[in-house]
Amino acid sequence: TRHLLGIKDLSPNDISLILQTAEQFKEVLQRPVKKVPSLRDIVVVNLFFENSTRTRISFELAEKRLSADTVNFTASASSVSKGETLLDTVNNILSMKVDMVVMRHSASGAPHFLAQHIPAAIINAGDGINEHPTQGLLDALSIKQATGGLEGKKVAIIGDIMHSRVALSNIYLLNKMGAKVTVCGPPTLIPKYIREALNVEVSYDLKETLEWCDVANVLRIQLERQNQVLFSSLREYNLAYGISRKLLDSLHKKIVIMHPGPINRGVELDSDVADSKQSIILQQVENGVAVRMAVLYLLSNSNNN
Ligand code: CP
Repeated sequence: TRHLLGIKDLSPNDISLILQTAEQFKEVLQRPVKKVPSLRDIVVVNLFFENSTRTRISFELAEKRLSADTVNFTASASSVSKGETLLDTVNNILSMKVDMVVMRHSASGAPHFLAQHIPAAIINAGDGINEHPTQGLLDALSIKQATGGLEGKKVAIIGDIMHSRVALSNIYLLNKMGAKVTVCGPPTLIPKYIREALNVEVSYDLKETLEWCDVANVLRIQLERQNQVLFSSLREYNLAYGISRKLLDSLHKKIVIMHPGPINRGVELDSDVADSKQSIILQQVENGVAVRMAVLYLLSNSNNN
């Protein structure tokens, strides 16, 4: 494949290859000299039309570790604010000889649109409420490392499923790799197409879901994407679906806690859970660099062949 637009397009073999390559890059990142020459003379532009901390820094570090030349673009500081279109923006950047585009955009399908119109390789770094494929991959690597594998593992995805591209990429990936998925949250935040079209169980009972799972991937309530009232207050959300220490200690087994970040502390996750030994949130971020190195490396190879 030329692009990474979504997990939906990948086969189980593609996913395994990316995860194996990421594990090899993780070893490289433990060495005193972390830089490899794989992407020398390749120019990558990080095109962010939406805010980011982890994904953007992680892609930039991955590109630098692979010796690529990197350029960063922030929409709010660009001529997009003067009305330039997405296609004009990207075509102008490409005329400066860019090979790969990493792109985050608030519109679902924006990278798919670009992929039909430009010759460069595109990596989706999050498109609206559709997909965040490198997050799905780094979550999978983190689950694999914490539990020993993906096949047969029970993963709960908890919270604002409706607005979450992380949920969708995780569901596609876990389904393809033989893990079992339950989505859990208020009925208003679990859309019909997830309940009906995807291979997931649905639960509205947090404690029951936590008793069932090996891993709980807890999602951020995305207030910026909600234009209607979907729950009564953050306080009530926390009482019904927030994960507290007391709740975790009442379970019959120790589960692994994940969160893609940024965390709304005291809403979906209490601090004494987020910062506990059960949480692998910072390992997820660490894995992000190796996963993005793997994706960049494999795509640059397939585009050269
Ligand atoms: N997990 C994630 O995508 O975080 P950022 O929005 O900070 O990149």
